[in-house]
Amino acid sequence: MSSQTAPVSLGDLQRPLRPRLDRVQQELRRIVEADFGLITEVNAHLFQMQGKMFRPTLLLLADEATGAGDPRAATLAAVVELIHLATLVHDDSVDHSVLRRGMPTINSIFSHQISVIMGDYLYSRAVIELVGLNDLEPLRVLSRVTNEMTVGEMRQLLAHEPLHYSEEDYDLLIRSKTASLLSGACEVGALLAAPAERAALRRYGMALGMAFQIVDDLLDYVGDASVTGKPSGSDLREHKVTLPLIAALPRMGPAERQEVEALMRTPEPADGQIQTVIAAVADSGGLDYARERALRLAQQADGELEELPASPAREALRDSIAYVVDRRR
Ligand code: IPE
Ligand code: IPE
Ligand code: MG
Ligand code: MG
Repeated sequence: MSSQTAPVSLGDLQRPLRPRLDRVQQELRRIVEADFGLITEVNAHLFQMQGKMFRPTLLLLADEATGAGDPRAATLAAVVELIHLATLVHDDSVDHSVLRRGMPTINSIFSHQISVIMGDYLYSRAVIELVGLNDLEPLRVLSRVTNEMTVGEMRQLLAHEPLHYSEEDYDLLIRSKTASLLSGACEVGALLAAPAERAALRRYGMALGMAFQIVDDLLDYVGDASVTGKPSGSDLREHKVTLPLIAALPRMGPAERQEVEALMRTPEPADGQIQTVIAAVADSGGLDYARERALRLAQQADGELEELPASPAREALRDSIAYVVDRRR
């Protein structure tokens, strides 16, 4: 995906933060530690799956860019990653997904029951950790975000009627299920900053998070599973309507539209059927439309950074936008 800025790799972005991100990893392990065999076993599996740590990265950059220097930043970043991880464990169970971060999911190795309980275990550990900080502010932001994410995952269940699902519905969905947490990560990194900076970072995270989910949805259409670490085509397989399809439908001819309807009626669509609809979406400009939308949101995120003083961390937040729109995984 092309943007005005030069391609930025996540590795480049995270290099200056490496020691702090290592600390976040240590905090994560400390927070989830259990003295119950089965939980220890699932934890061990979860720690073999390396995620991108993008939300902790944003939190640490927000902390640096506002000069907040919050001594709790590593712990808060671990809590945010933990909330994300709990959501992924639940999401893969809900989506019946078998691959995450290039590894088999908890529901596929263990069971759906274990996924449900484990997601709750991880989330409740995150809450215990927040309560231990004796400050209501991060708890206020992150408990609201988590609640919003559950509403988002509920909205997701309704996103399977292509003819009745609008871009407005989709916007509400991606704000709640994804952007709310990126926004919360940025805001929690700026709790000690001036209110105007904190608010700008919250808005930056919201726009960036929406772009992040649109790109995720694009990668589901055109991504390479060996790079993303997640199966491709799984949204259509699960009958999930995302922006490329929403944008393409009104421009499709009757034959293509029938292909879409047939796929949505087929309980387990074949790979060929999915490929046909992906091609129809591409031909009708659905992928281009979604890319442009992601780029517009990226510009919006960029504008919010004007509120912050110039610094290497602010530049890294800019580079994070370029990373989000160009990412392949
Ligand atoms: C996946 O998030 C879930 C979405 C919001 C699309 P990431 O792409 O950040 O997943 P990991 O943590 O790197 O695996
Ligand atoms: C994002 O939606 C899920 C969360 C916010 C947990 P998806 O269902 O598209 O996420 P992936 O593709 O499984 O990572
Ligand atoms: Mg999913
Ligand atoms: Mg997805």
